[in-house]
Amino acid sequence: MSKFNRKYLYIFCMVLITFLVVGCTGKEVKETSQKKDMKLITDEEKPYIGFLIDTLKEERWYKDKALFEEQVKSLGGEVKTLAANGLDDVQIKQAELLIGEGVDVLVVVPHDATISAKIVEMAHEAGIKVISYDRLIKDADVDYYISFDNEKVGELQASEILKKTSSGNFAYIGGSESDNNAILFRQGAMKVLQPQIDSGKIKLVYDEYTEEWKPDVAKSNMKNALSKNGNKIDAVIAANDGTAGGVIESLASVGLAGKVPVSGQDAELEGVRRIVKGVQTMTVYKSINQLATESAELAVKVAKSEEVKTEKTINNGKSDIPSIFLEPIAITQDNIRDTIIKDGYLTEEEIYK
Ligand code: GAL
Repeated sequence: MSKFNRKYLYIFCMVLITFLVVGCTGKEVKETSQKKDMKLITDEEKPYIGFLIDTLKEERWYKDKALFEEQVKSLGGEVKTLAANGLDDVQIKQAELLIGEGVDVLVVVPHDATISAKIVEMAHEAGIKVISYDRLIKDADVDYYISFDNEKVGELQASEILKKTSSGNFAYIGGSESDNNAILFRQGAMKVLQPQIDSGKIKLVYDEYTEEWKPDVAKSNMKNALSKNGNKIDAVIAANDGTAGGVIESLASVGLAGKVPVSGQDAELEGVRRIVKGVQTMTVYKSINQLATESAELAVKVAKSEEVKTEKTINNGKSDIPSIFLEPIAITQDNIRDTIIKDGYLTEEEIYK
């Protein structure tokens, strides 16, 4: 009988014993150790990392997945990635599955900042640590958080737009409210805009989050903003390139594309091309390579039960989470080559062709 079949026979027996024992001694203890002891990978000595991501809808998450997996493997680990397509119950089921497979650590990009607290609870019951990746899980004892300085992202967006126009009617087109990053991006932007608003130079005439970061929702929100203000909109802070694309389509429909400054984020190919064309003012480049590399290193260390000290923490409503924050960079027409192209994130050909 092959090694693999022997393993499944073993699982079957263990589950059977579990059920028998549960009747006698009570659920928690038994289950925890059994899941933790067995890893559903060929070489059980290897660190086994579970990577739970919200969606693959936006371009960057493909890069996060590929780069993170590559890094974990280069560090001698095994990794399994599952995407939840924006569905909370699916993400929780996927966490259950990976916990059942005996992962050593879970790395999570939560769809919903609070609902995902359940994942931390389940993982800790099974003795598995959780790293919050890019987006923070709120109200749970998350073990580590690694991301960019997300308030700074908002500050960069507002500052670049203010360089183009510092007075008039402004619209804020935010991200998804279930994503804690969207809250932080908005906080950072408002920190920069507030003095101008208080002085009366700027009027914030529209301010909405965008359901699920959907570009077409951003497009219809922008249409509302234009119709409510007689097309008198002087600047738009859009939270990422996806929403910026929707906003610019609406501006184009009233002949304002390229005349109204618009921010973005993520250095998506189409976002950077719009900057080259002059219809989008800026985007925020976040080195996904750096995020994935440092997260893989952290995950493998945690999987080996190594203690990792961090300089920073962030309070997620439950406790101060040991955190690592990376630097975001504002991108305009002037520095595309020195940043995105130099890093190999996008190529000269694909941007300028
Ligand atoms: C945020 C992320 C952004 C953007 C957005 C939509 O959490 O930080 O880079 O991609 O999600 O997926």
